Formats: sequence, structure tokens, C-alpha cells
Amino acid sequence: MTMKAETATPATGGGRYPVPVRFLHWIVAVMIIATIPVANIMQQDGLARSTQDLLFILHKNGGVIIFLLVVARILWRVLTPAPPMPAQMPGWQVAAAKAAHWALYAMLLVMTVSGYVRVRAGGFPVEMLDALGVPHFVPRSDALAETAQSIHSTGRFILVALILLHVGAALQHAFRRDGVFGRIWPPLGR
Ligand code: HEM
Repeated sequence: MTMKAETATPATGGGRYPVPVRFLHWIVAVMIIATIPVANIMQQDGLARSTQDLLFILHKNGGVIIFLLVVARILWRVLTPAPPMPAQMPGWQVAAAKAAHWALYAMLLVMTVSGYVRVRAGGFPVEMLDALGVPHFVPRSDALAETAQSIHSTGRFILVALILLHVGAALQHAFRRDGVFGRIWPPLGR
């Protein structure tokens, strides 16, 4: 992605993201929207042990998949320019959208990496990685696990705030029908 491509304002308005990028966006969106309530429920008192274990497995392994998809999305965005925004969109909105997207990517990395570190440093399994024989990338350490846990726990507020901002801006574009929402939706079609 180049600055020039993202801030360009051709008279015809922006194109759309390629279909694989649109798929990636909506898959990651659904997974994140699911993983936050799962995280909150899995920690509640009084859950049956089997239910709690299942929710933890879903959260941890779903989080690893989110990490891989977000890395793929970041690489794609770095290597391939985003389609230009519509010509009538003010420069500050283009810059704000770009900053918000990168802040979202960054927070998704913070959340997934801190979750992984919390689990590994705490000496717990990540079932999918263990089944694939992936080595542990962090040492066992209670202090490290505690730090990662507080980053993971605090980070959720920043992530949720960014998601609300992102959804709010997207809905505003959808209602105004200015062509921005159509760049990423629907995943099928042209
Ligand atoms: C985008 C991805 C992720 C999001 C949005 C997310 C979100 C959350 C949230 C909101 C909580 C509740 C925090 C609290 O109540 O203090 C939580 C807890 C937790 N998450 Fe994640 N998480 C993600 C990825 C991961 C990953 C990849 C792992 C591990 C491989 C993981 C492991 C955990 C664990 C173990 C807890 C319980 C923390 C504790 O010990 O108190 N998470 N997560």
C-alpha cells in the first residue's frame, strides 16, 4: 500500500477491494465478534467444567487463527495498494480511516500475541499448535504470564473502542451511500 494510492481521489471514486480481501475482512470480523463474548463467558463462575474447557479451547485456538488471518491481511495491505477513496471524501477522513485501520491491525496483534504469551508463559496448552508440533515461543514464567494477562485484559477496551469507531464510520458511509461501504461489502460479486 502506498500513501499515494490511499489518498488519491480520482473523479470516478474508489474501486473495490479484491474478493479475497473482502472475504478475509468478514471472516475476521465474525471471529472477533464471537471471541469477545466467549472470553467473557468462559471466565464466569459456576460454569460446568466441560463447558468452560470448550470455551477456552475455542477462544485460544480461534485467537490463533485470527492472528494468522490478520498477519495475512497486513501483508496483503502492505504489498497491494488499497483502492482509492471516492473523490468527494475529505482528506482528513481518508487519513482518519487509514489511521483507524492500522490501529485495529495493531490491537489485533496485541490481543492475539498477549493471549498467546499469557497461555504459554502460564504453562497451558494451545491445542491446535500442540497437535501440529509447533514449538513454544515463550518460556514458562509466572511474571510474564501476569504481565501478558494485564495487557490482554486492558487491551480489550481499546480494541472494543476501535471496533465501535470502525463500525460507526462504516454505517455512516453505508447510509450516505458514498461508495465507501461498497468497497468492502458484499464479499461476493464483482
Ligand atoms: C483478537 C483476538 C482475541 C481477543 C479479541 C481476545 C479477547 C479476550 C477478552 C475480552 C478476554 C477477557 C479478559 C478479561 O476478562 O480480563 C480474554 C481472556 C483470555 N484470552 Fe483472549 N482474546 C484474543 C486472543 C487470544 C489468544 C490468541 C489466546 C491464547 C492463545 C487468548 C487467551 C485468553 C485467555 C487464557 C484468557 C483468560 C485470561 C485470564 O487468565 O484471566 N486470547 N480474551
